[in-house]
Amino acid sequence: MILDGKIVSKSIYDEIKEKIGNRTGELPSLVLFCDEPDPSNKTYMKSIRKQGEKLGIEVIVRDSGSNPVEEISELNKDKSVAGIMVMHPLKNANEKAVLAALDPGKDLEGRTVSNLGGIINDEEFFAPPTAEAVMEILDYYGIEVKGRDITIVGRSNTVGKPLALLLLKKGVDGTVTVCHSRSRDISEKTFNADIVVSAVGIAKFIEREMIRPGAVVIDVGINFVDGKLVGDVDFDEVSQIAAAITPVPGGVGSVTTALLFRHYYRSIERMES
Ligand SMILES: NC(=O)c1ccc[n+]([C@@H]2O[C@H](COP(=O)([O-])OP(=O)(O)OC[C@H]3O[C@@H](n4cnc5c(N)ncnc54)[C@H](OP(=O)(O)O)[C@@H]3O)[C@@H](O)[C@H]2O)c1
Repeated sequence: MILDGKIVSKSIYDEIKEKIGNRTGELPSLVLFCDEPDPSNKTYMKSIRKQGEKLGIEVIVRDSGSNPVEEISELNKDKSVAGIMVMHPLKNANEKAVLAALDPGKDLEGRTVSNLGGIINDEEFFAPPTAEAVMEILDYYGIEVKGRDITIVGRSNTVGKPLALLLLKKGVDGTVTVCHSRSRDISEKTFNADIVVSAVGIAKFIEREMIRPGAVVIDVGINFVDGKLVGDVDFDEVSQIAAAITPVPGGVGSVTTALLFRHYYRSIERMES
């Protein structure tokens, strides 16, 4: 089975459109806070602006300026702004200081210490949307997590670590192994898993021999090979033995962007409550 992220994201956009349709008055804006965005960020920002346009949400690109911490503090207070994305990496600013100044209620990407720490206590306001997108896809397609063995390859703060915490939550009850560049015998850990999530950033990192027939494979990776967008998984080979697999493009990425807009709307609800 192909786990089609576009179907999942459509259901999220439908939910947001309905909420927006029931509102009166102007929608607050969403700010992309950046200095010198790299090509992949430029592509990402373009797709967010495009989705914003479709939903009637103003997406503003804001330069971090000479005093980014002050700029962020101003945006926090600005009632016409419901969400802020600090585009990583900021090349000319101390990103940690900027994130420390960011209002967790406007932190659509769940990057602040408060939102990340909240996952441990089951009380996060925003989880990082890429990690959440994996959960959303599993949930949408009714893939059981409880008691199953899940191996995540990649331990970044945006994907691997928060995803491990989301899977470990009581009630979700996954059994999680997280691998990274210093892990030994990754193939053994992926082969023993019921669900494998790859967030490495290397094309064809996950090969057929690493996956047990009948396992579920979620590909978070975004790589360009000869100008073509591919994931971390050797899709042609692995799709022949996996019970279910996400494609790239059209998998986790499309759900991630949709979740940003769900977060944006949740921020509006919080501002208005
Ligand atoms: N689809 C989406 O919406 C979305 C969103 C965000 C990111 N992504 C993509 O997902 C991938 C990962 O993103 P990220 O931000 O998490 O990247 P990252 O911060 O660079 O983390 C990559 C992780 O992979 C591990 N790794 C690297 N080489 C490895 C190897 N040979 N064996 C085992 N582990 C290895 C690293 O280990 P160490 O920690 O030991 O260095 C690190 O934990 C990228 O392709 C990115 O473009 C997709």
